[in-house]
Amino acid sequence: MNHQLLKGKRGIIFGALDERSLAWKTAERAFEEGAQFVLTNAPVALRLGTINQLADKCKAKVIPADATLIEDIEKLYDESIQFLGGKIDFLLHSIGMSPNVRKGKTYNDLDYNFFLKTLDISGLSLHKILQVAEKKDVFNEGASVVALTYVAAQRVFPHYSDMSQAKALLESIARSYGYQLGVKKKVRINTVSQSPTVTTAGSGVTGFDTFYSYADKMSPLGNASALDCADYLITLFSDLTRKVTMQNLFNDGGFSSMGISQQILEIVKQKN
Ligand SMILES: NC(=O)c1ccc[n+]([C@@H]2O[C@H](COP(=O)([O-])OP(=O)(O)OC[C@H]3O[C@@H](n4cnc5c(N)ncnc54)[C@H](O)[C@@H]3O)[C@@H](O)[C@H]2O)c1
Repeated sequence: MNHQLLKGKRGIIFGALDERSLAWKTAERAFEEGAQFVLTNAPVALRLGTINQLADKCKAKVIPADATLIEDIEKLYDESIQFLGGKIDFLLHSIGMSPNVRKGKTYNDLDYNFFLKTLDISGLSLHKILQVAEKKDVFNEGASVVALTYVAAQRVFPHYSDMSQAKALLESIARSYGYQLGVKKKVRINTVSQSPTVTTAGSGVTGFDTFYSYADKMSPLGNASALDCADYLITLFSDLTRKVTMQNLFNDGGFSSMGISQQILEIVKQKN
């Protein structure tokens, strides 16, 4: 599938760690659709991951930036605009990390320094990215920003722990900043709430395999894959969605509208 939907557009993609990453698939699709972009990730992730292979394939430049550090974000924008030869038309925030989840801390035994880090990395970073962008005036008129989120912002998934609050914060920032930059520059800001997907961040959550399978059986269309996510993001970065902003959009095969499915009913019936 190639419709050149992003021909002539310049972007920044945060969060491609390895080929399973949602940002990795999005970069591949954005390249196919004619975009030119910069790939960025935290310096430590760049050392661990294989991002240079992706950069070679997509003719992209890799610029390290910790998304919680203002000076890194400023440098990222300066170098990106220089490399791309103009201002930014699209930006993907595909960043998530909870030290509490990583260390197996349960929701009723959270470390509060870790909690603040979770909020900073996974939520507040979107505000920092947008505030620096506004101050430096890096977006073209009508640019599109998308951040990836999960339904645990609205519904309880016990093992998602403090990431639930981080995602609620992220979605709220997208709405509030969507107003600011919408009025100022017609910039669109949305969050996409994705199905569980097998990636480093996704499979780090306890019981991931079980709730992956549960979500798949609950969703009339089945779970959305990383490629499904990338395809949806391309439409949001394109000019076809110029009036969509400040929304939390579900790319989840219908999961978020379900109560119970026949498949899950059968399983519960067998167990009783
Ligand atoms: N995989 C899923 O099941 C799923 C479902 C819904 C939403 N999401 C969200 O999608 C996004 C991407 O996650 P993924 O599943 O592709 O996993 P991933 O582990 O491949 O991506 C997470 C990225 O965040 C980056 N990151 C962490 N700390 C950072 C920092 N300080 N500065 C810059 N980057 C930093 C990591 O290096 C990594 O590249 C996350 O926001 C995640 O919460 C994932």
